[in-house]
Amino acid sequence: MSLFTQRKIRTLTGLLCAMTFSMFVFSYTLREPSLYFFRSVLGLSGSTCSCRHCITHLEDEDDSWFMERFNQSFHPLMSRKSSMLSDDTYRWWQWLQAEKSPSNLTIVLDRLFQLLPAEERYVDAHPDRCRTCSVVGNSGNLRESRYGSYIDSSDFVIRMNQAPTQGFEKDVGYKTTHHLMYPESATDLDNSTSLILIPFKTLDLEWIISALTTGDISKTYVPVKSRITANKDKVLIYNPRFLKYVYDSWLEGHGRYPSTGFLSLMFAIHICDEVNVFGFGADQDGNWHHYWEDNMLGGAFRHTGVHDGDYEYNITLLLADKHKITLYRGG
Ligand SMILES: *[C@@H]1O[C@H](CO)[C@@H](O)[C@H](O)[C@H]1NC(C)=O
Ligand SMILES: *[C@@H]1O[C@H](CO)[C@@H](O)[C@H](O)[C@H]1NC(C)=O
Ligand SMILES: *[C@@H]1O[C@H](CO)[C@@H](O)[C@H](O)[C@H]1NC(C)=O
Ligand SMILES: *[C@@H]1O[C@H](CO)[C@@H](O)[C@H](O)[C@H]1NC(C)=O
Repeated sequence: MSLFTQRKIRTLTGLLCAMTFSMFVFSYTLREPSLYFFRSVLGLSGSTCSCRHCITHLEDEDDSWFMERFNQSFHPLMSRKSSMLSDDTYRWWQWLQAEKSPSNLTIVLDRLFQLLPAEERYVDAHPDRCRTCSVVGNSGNLRESRYGSYIDSSDFVIRMNQAPTQGFEKDVGYKTTHHLMYPESATDLDNSTSLILIPFKTLDLEWIISALTTGDISKTYVPVKSRITANKDKVLIYNPRFLKYVYDSWLEGHGRYPSTGFLSLMFAIHICDEVNVFGFGADQDGNWHHYWEDNMLGGAFRHTGVHDGDYEYNITLLLADKHKITLYRGG
């Protein structure tokens, strides 16, 4: 045999060995066929963000549970472009609070986006981005937790409903970048905070227009704040289409519709790269109350009949279990 042929055989053998070896490794690391499917479809190989753990970075079998539910084609916020609802979504959404004679949604949305920012936000996922977020629930388990400065160290600090910070800063922090609410749970905000309205009916969209301008609407199914202090250049609208996705895909139809807490968490996992969660669940003694209330029954929101708090909390625990979020429990 010539030297040339010998070398060729050696190269070929080496190549074969390498191929066999990589096939072997491949079949082990990508044993989960659905995961392989998601990876290739979504192009999610390699690092998806520059944090230590990225929510969309898929590594093991735990991720198939996540990917069966998580769908990046749904965006939490409404822009003018994404404001059209299918008949199906519109009907479902309108059923949530059974509004009697809703105004024409097309006309309301038109007025809404004349007043509020209409462009898409937070669609900037990138391998070089590391956006950390703290979602701060309202549980009494935040009391004496001393999480305040840790919460404030996130890029985004997301709060909800009536949550105050004043007087509780050591435990809940000073900073609020986003505050989710609906008309019946509204509270005034400072100028640097984005109000995120969760609309459960057409009237809620009319309310935010009114509350930032004329103050005409003072009642929905209960009396509501007729005016609200908030920076109107930072007001954002939760998309009913996303709401339905959360209900269908994550809650699989449990409860009548998702709670603000769960919707805030879902908002975070779709726009952040790393999510820390505080103030969810009961306190150390098993009580469900708000951190600012002494009345142990005051926030008995778990059994309102509208939300399935147990199921929602289960999903929250599973997300933590699968290392998609980090759950901090107080005390
Ligand atoms: C995500 O949602 C879109 C729109 O509803 C759908 O077409 C697509 O199949 C979904 N993708 C996954 C991976 O479930
Ligand atoms: C709502 O208003 C739009 C635009 O004016 C109109 O085209 C549409 O037919 C109206 N829809 C209903 C249900 O009245
Ligand atoms: C609030 O912020 C906006 C810019 O988003 C600015 O135009 C406005 O003057 C600020 N208002 C107050 C009261 O600081
Ligand atoms: C929560 O999950 C556990 C198992 O993971 C299950 O046994 C239990 O029924 C679930 N609870 C609810 C309310 O879905």
